[in-house]
Amino acid sequence: MDRPAWAPPEIDLERPSTARIYDYMLGGLHNFAIDRQMAEQVLAVAPQLRISAHANRGFLRRAVKFLAAAGIRQFLDLGSGIPTVGNVHEAAHRVAPDARVVYLDADPVAVAHSRALVEDDERVTVLQADIRDTDAILANPRLNATLDLSQPVAVLIVAVLHFVPDADDPAALVGRLRDAVVPGSYLAISQVGAPTRALTPQEQAVADMYTRANPVALRTGEQVARFFAGLELVEPGLVDPARWHADEDVDELMPSYAGVGRKP
Ligand SMILES: C[S@@+](CC[C@H](N)C(=O)[O-])C[C@H]1O[C@@H](n2cnc3c(N)ncnc32)[C@H](O)[C@@H]1O
Repeated sequence: MDRPAWAPPEIDLERPSTARIYDYMLGGLHNFAIDRQMAEQVLAVAPQLRISAHANRGFLRRAVKFLAAAGIRQFLDLGSGIPTVGNVHEAAHRVAPDARVVYLDADPVAVAHSRALVEDDERVTVLQADIRDTDAILANPRLNATLDLSQPVAVLIVAVLHFVPDADDPAALVGRLRDAVVPGSYLAISQVGAPTRALTPQEQAVADMYTRANPVALRTGEQVARFFAGLELVEPGLVDPARWHADEDVDELMPSYAGVGRKP
């Protein structure tokens, strides 16, 4: 296969990546044949995933707009993905041109494209790390040169925690972030939900396909609500991403949860 000039040398073009599959579902161009092939297999079984990816992206944009309007001037976007329409710094700068943003992702393509997009913007920093290395992330000198953790921060963990299995204790990870930020900070989280019944063979097939790229941990609303322990959920609480601060009512396509919590 031809290797595009933008592909970082360390990546394996034969292995699908969740960042690039999501990019493809959003209509982006930073994906390889293996990602497109897997995305099409998944979409053949669950076509609603494409709409759901756009709905999640809509939640991210509306949450950033809400947070900037609430006075937040610092954003830590964990598992930020490959840049696409309506990135966090763009949404934040529309409301607050002085807002500072740190993007972080484990995926080298997401990091390379994020860096290319913001290289001349001193308000924005891009880090490559695994979200599970929470303490190292919080101590990172480049993060601390961009964000002042003695002031309120919005931590965004949007469509990422379903890639962190229970064995890695995502609740503890979120708890460390909550404890590290000052009162008046916010956490915005979305994650794919688990049906309250057993998975249909179709749903199981999709989960199994995704597991080829990254194991997937579907969670119930109750489990997702636990990520907001110690925080005050802002209205309308934990809802489908498409419905969070949406202009119009929409049908829920698949179980998925989104919420924004404020540290009192
Ligand atoms: C579905 S995308 C979401 C992107 C963006 N947050 C959004 O909502 O539009 C999930 C992202 O999480 C990243 N990711 C998954 N597991 C991760 C981990 N353990 N550490 C850091 N990033 C991770 C993937 O590389 C991917 O870019």
